[in-house]
This record gives sequence, C-alpha cells and structure tokens, in this order.
Amino acid sequence: MLIDTHCHLEDYDNLKEITEEMQDGMMITAGTSQTTNEKVLELIAQYPNVYGTLGIHPEEVENCKEEDLIYIEKHIMDPHIVGIGEVGLDYHYGTETKEKQKEILKKQLLLAKKYKKTVVIHSRDATLDTYTILEELDMHDTKMVLHCYSSSIEMAHQFLKFPMKFGIGGVITFKNAVKLREVVEKLPLESFLLETDSPYLSPEPHRGEKNKPSNTLFVAKKIAEIKGISLEEVLQVTSASAIRWFDLGRKI
Ligand code: NI
Repeated sequence: MLIDTHCHLEDYDNLKEITEEMQDGMMITAGTSQTTNEKVLELIAQYPNVYGTLGIHPEEVENCKEEDLIYIEKHIMDPHIVGIGEVGLDYHYGTETKEKQKEILKKQLLLAKKYKKTVVIHSRDATLDTYTILEELDMHDTKMVLHCYSSSIEMAHQFLKFPMKFGIGGVITFKNAVKLREVVEKLPLESFLLETDSPYLSPEPHRGEKNKPSNTLFVAKKIAEIKGISLEEVLQVTSASAIRWFDLGRKI
C-alpha cells in the first residue's frame, strides 16, 4: 500500500482520477493558510482516501490572524484531521518575518501538544532554530515529522531525541542529493515516511512535471535501491509507520 504523507491537493482539476490512482493507498493533504485549511476540510469530506492536517505555513505568517489559529483549534479533533501542519520556519528568502514565524510555530506546537496531534514541520535553512524551539517547548511527548528532510545525518540524530520521523520525497531521486542519501542509508527504515509534496518536487523520471501522490512509488523505489532491500519491504514498513504516526485507518 502506498501512503503519501504530505501533499497539497487543493490545486488539481483532475483530483478524482489522482486519488483513484492511489487505489487502496492514502494521502494526507496539508493546509498552509486559512484558505487552504478550509479546502482541506472540503477534500477530506469528499474523498475517502484523503486525510488532512491543518496549519499555517511559515511563508504565510504575515497574513495570519488570531482567528485563523482559533479555526485550526476548532477543527483539530475532526476525525479525518490527523495532525497540525504544515508549520515551521523558513529563512530561505530572508529572515524579516523570523520572529513572527517563531511565534506562530510555537502557538501551533502548543496546540498539537494540547490535543495530542502529530506535527508536520517544514524547516528550511532554519535547522538550529527549529531544534531550539522543540527543546524549549519540551516536545518530547509529541509525534512529529520533519517533512522534506534536508539537513545532515548528525542533525537527524539530534532530532531523534524527539518522537520524530523524516519525510522523504522526490529530492531523494535527484543526482545531487548526497547528504540526503547518507541519511537514508544510515538510519533505519522505520525512521522514514514517504511523501511527494505534490504538486511540487516531482521525482525522477518526472522531474519538472506537476507532481502527484502516486509518484510516491518512485521515492519508495529509490529508498529500496539505496538500502539494498525490496520495494515491498519499503512499502510495508513505511506504510505501517505512517498509519501508526498519524493514527490513520479509521476512515475505511
Ligand atoms: Ni508542503
């Protein structure tokens, strides 16, 4: 069974086809703003194999109002909402909103703690600040995912002091993904969840095209190749991890 633990499904006009391609598999579509969070709630009601997470993405914090966080809290216990996300820190395009990003991240981490929900974290060029905040809020009791993991194996070991999984997506199929290949090679398969981040980051051989959840298969194949194990084992172990991590499976 294929599980895409991180995608953004609000922007497809052929969504029925896309979700059917996953057959008995599942997808978790991540909200990033008030608008997309509302869309997530629509999609999980409409498609039987789509679950959702709600969150304010670091690049959306400028537009984030107090009521947007109240909206997340109001819907966090909806049965097919399986986590808080996508939340985090992103300093890639500059650090002007750094303080606001930290403030909004902390508020959402506290929500996850309060409602015992898994957190999906986006951390880009901000590894140390992300780590420091997780320590500061004592997130050792909360299941988390570092989505699209891009830091070193050394940092991965630090993050494993928390209940943490690493989301592996299309980037692993890129030739220049040297650091990430090392992470996949050295950590146990149980540390990883498969994802696409659709519609972005299409894996080889579809790089440059609009990504879709069924491309999770190419990510799984690459992990199997790197670790020298079968595709079946990758699918079985990562799916079991995803089901446990997000408490999936109540829908079917
Ligand atoms: Ni994403």
